[in-house]
Amino acid sequence: MFNLNEKASEGDKVVLFGGRNYIYSLTLERDQVFRKKIGDISHNNIIGEKYGSQLNVKTKKNKEFKVYLLRFSPYTHIVTINRRTQIIYPTDISLITIQLEILPGSIVVEAGTGSGSLTSYLAQYVAPNGKIFTHDVVEERVSICKKEFQENGISHLINAEKRNVLEKGFDFVDSCVDSAIFDLPLPWKIIPEAERILKPNGMICLYSPCIEQVQLTCETLRKYNFIEIETIECIKRSYISFEKENKRIIPEFNLQKDSEKEQIIEQTKKRKRKLTQKEINNENEIEIEKENEKENEKKKGGVNASEKEEVGVSVNVNEGQSKNNFKNEKVNENENTTKNKIQIQLNNNILLTKTVGHVIGHTSFLTFARKAAL
Ligand SMILES: C[S@@+](CC[C@H](N)C(=O)[O-])C[C@H]1O[C@@H](n2cnc3c(N)ncnc32)[C@H](O)[C@@H]1O
Repeated sequence: MFNLNEKASEGDKVVLFGGRNYIYSLTLERDQVFRKKIGDISHNNIIGEKYGSQLNVKTKKNKEFKVYLLRFSPYTHIVTINRRTQIIYPTDISLITIQLEILPGSIVVEAGTGSGSLTSYLAQYVAPNGKIFTHDVVEERVSICKKEFQENGISHLINAEKRNVLEKGFDFVDSCVDSAIFDLPLPWKIIPEAERILKPNGMICLYSPCIEQVQLTCETLRKYNFIEIETIECIKRSYISFEKENKRIIPEFNLQKDSEKEQIIEQTKKRKRKLTQKEINNENEIEIEKENEKENEKKKGGVNASEKEEVGVSVNVNEGQSKNNFKNEKVNENENTTKNKIQIQLNNNILLTKTVGHVIGHTSFLTFARKAAL
């Protein structure tokens, strides 16, 4: 089984995490060295360390690259898996697990095994007494997966077999499995056989990459005594939230009078206020409310007393020579106008939330259905 130990021991499969693009899994062996493009780290330096601790990897240029030592888990297994086929990702897996009502002790039938991504995850759910019966038409895929299940200590929960399920069906008696999942071409063709082996009330999930397949699948499910038919496209959209220095600089302009300068700063503050309301995320609603209050007070007459302190505005006179708060700035009106340029920089931080650039998740449509009792 995937371990829950506090520290990494010899023989453990562990994960080194150095960022979204630097995730590696390895099995710890004394005196071995882990070598990747990020650099080298001796297994001896990992053995005995606490999971969650930070370790140094020596890069080729003899610099240090920091990585975190993580437990090998069903999730890290999927993100570090050696993909021999298209795989099912955690977003779909979580939905499949709950929709198929998979519990400790469940008997689940699967085809095809592919890279064993879904199989490995489901094995955790059916433990300790359940079983996943997985099938793939390609011998090599089955044997590689079997080896990995063994290495990950989950082989006792999985029965992996080379089999063309569309041609041969299954060797199970009628109405004996709790749920069934099929990620293979022509999924509607397996429905009659799935109906035979599923227990009444049992759930089925069929993976289809295109909507025409979904239509055929649903039509066949209706013919074969299935109810609660539902197709779901599960799209994952990740967000990251971070603080960013607000370095908007308004263009240079020639300073004529103090009144002009006042005017520009007022405009800048107003723009800043719009920016805050537009870009700040929901968690920062209080900030927006404060801004609105100030706006209301302003409409009523006077400027809020605290406003000047809160809005950080710095004024650069003669480009970069000085960077002072406007309140303290003495501008020499006698200097010639080309020298007398100012830049206004908003130096407050803003809180931003944005989507992560890519969407991992959609590979297919998931059609779920329940076998009705006759
Ligand atoms: C997309 S992969 C499955 C990936 C798997 N769900 C995972 O998460 O790693 C589809 C698999 O179905 C297998 N397959 C295709 N036709 C099959 C059939 N008639 N019987 C059994 N397996 C089949 C293929 O060999 C392939 O490995």
